[in-house]
Amino acid sequence: MTGALPRRRLLALSAGAGLVLGTGLGAPQLLSGAPRTGELVRSRLPLPQPFQVPLPIPPTLQPVEQRPDADVYEIVQQQARQQILPGVDTTVWGYQGSFPGPTIESRRGRTTIVRHRNELPVPTVVHLHGGRTPPESDGYPTDLVLPVGSDHDQQAGHGHAGPMHDPDAVISHGAATYTFPLEQRASMLWYHDHRMDFTGPQIYRGLAGLHLVRDDEEDALPLPAGDRELPLMITDRAFEADGSFRYPSVDPTLRTTPGVQEPYIEGVFGDVILVNGAPWPVHEVTGTRHRLRILNASNARRYDLALDPPPPGGHGLVQIGSDQGLLELPRAHDRLPIAPAERYDVVVDFGRYPVGSTVTLVNRLGTGSTAQVMQFVITGTGVEHSMVPDRLSRIEPLQRSQAARVREFDFRAGTVHGRHGWRIGGKPFSPTRIDAAPALGEVEIWRFVADLHHPIHLHLVNFRVLSRGTGGPSPYDGGLKDTVDLRPGEAVEVIARFDGYRGRFVFHCHNAEHEDMAMMANFAVT
Ligand code: C2O
Ligand code: CU
Ligand code: CU
Repeated sequence: MTGALPRRRLLALSAGAGLVLGTGLGAPQLLSGAPRTGELVRSRLPLPQPFQVPLPIPPTLQPVEQRPDADVYEIVQQQARQQILPGVDTTVWGYQGSFPGPTIESRRGRTTIVRHRNELPVPTVVHLHGGRTPPESDGYPTDLVLPVGSDHDQQAGHGHAGPMHDPDAVISHGAATYTFPLEQRASMLWYHDHRMDFTGPQIYRGLAGLHLVRDDEEDALPLPAGDRELPLMITDRAFEADGSFRYPSVDPTLRTTPGVQEPYIEGVFGDVILVNGAPWPVHEVTGTRHRLRILNASNARRYDLALDPPPPGGHGLVQIGSDQGLLELPRAHDRLPIAPAERYDVVVDFGRYPVGSTVTLVNRLGTGSTAQVMQFVITGTGVEHSMVPDRLSRIEPLQRSQAARVREFDFRAGTVHGRHGWRIGGKPFSPTRIDAAPALGEVEIWRFVADLHHPIHLHLVNFRVLSRGTGGPSPYDGGLKDTVDLRPGEAVEVIARFDGYRGRFVFHCHNAEHEDMAMMANFAVT
């Protein structure tokens, strides 16, 4: 290993690893309370008061063309100035120049075609997270879209020489077209950058947007809709004195060396919590049910969300869906732990509070500025049109006995090309190595083991959590997922059917710093 981790860090990392070896699995509580998933980067300007800025709702993107069987969209990836902190201009890299990007709304089974033009100074890749997408449109990390006007010589510099060269990469110049069949359940997906080795800083600068898939099953339910359905994309960021985003890249030009400076290799935390790109926003609601569609789009920060105060009687957060759409039955919670890339679909009944109250969405894992997320102000009574039905959906059961095989992967710190990084099964990511080759349509159980917290995401498929440690899934693991948060020293089993499309897909840790520092691997559906 080269470089020196601060000793405290090194101890923390080896303690995590040692626990797994020394005590066996299923003892996460030994480390609970302790484990962080990142290191705080502090802003170099004064932070604003919370709950001053109204909650922005990203605009819905209009198609440029509607074909009988498909909607066609165009997105320009560009640099722009945006006021994120009041009175301060921040340069963002945004889809249509904004952070978050515009929201795309699609119908299940209706093809969505998105043409992306890259006017940024670096290569990009677009991935639709949670999309059941053929491999050529899934945003494989080396399928780079080079900046408009870049010449062929630049290709060598932007690709990955040596161990990272990928002979199968499809390089586009200036623009690329992604086709999403969206043969999948209604759910809230998100699109974000996925450039090999530089996903963390490129999402951090703003390359993330929401993509809602609707279907008839969901439309038939009397859920809160219209302005009572609120997408909430939660991120944390830090700012430089000049208002730019502060991110500790080894190479801030994002051209050569990937990764972050050593103190931050566990992940980058910011001290400002943004919802839909606004710091600790406030939103006025009537005392009625509202549907909150929550995404943690932070690079590394996990949140434990709760309502403060809770409504009388508690259980204020009624979960109706998870990453991949509706649950079978609603499930009421007092808190919602959420790791990067996870989603919750939740109904909150503000009618349980007196008119005039303020209700804060808090983060019980945060301290100081990061302990609060946003605030709701209940301004009137309002007419209630919605309810949460007793049964929401049906989900095909998958039994352990249906699995053709069990695979095991472990996720831990390790050396990556001579530097500190993160590995799966002891190996750093290589585009040319396939670590699993499930047959199309086959059911498999994947067993994950972790040293620290790692939110593990599979492309293409959805899965169910079968077990955590020696027990069953947690109350928050319900429904169909595409990302599961592993806890330190814990083994988690998930079961998935590998259907949809044949081809090469990635699975990886969605702590974006871990992902960029090699915690990614390939599976090929054959
Ligand atoms: Cu949200 Cu491979 O990504
Ligand atoms: Cu994904
Ligand atoms: Cu990780």
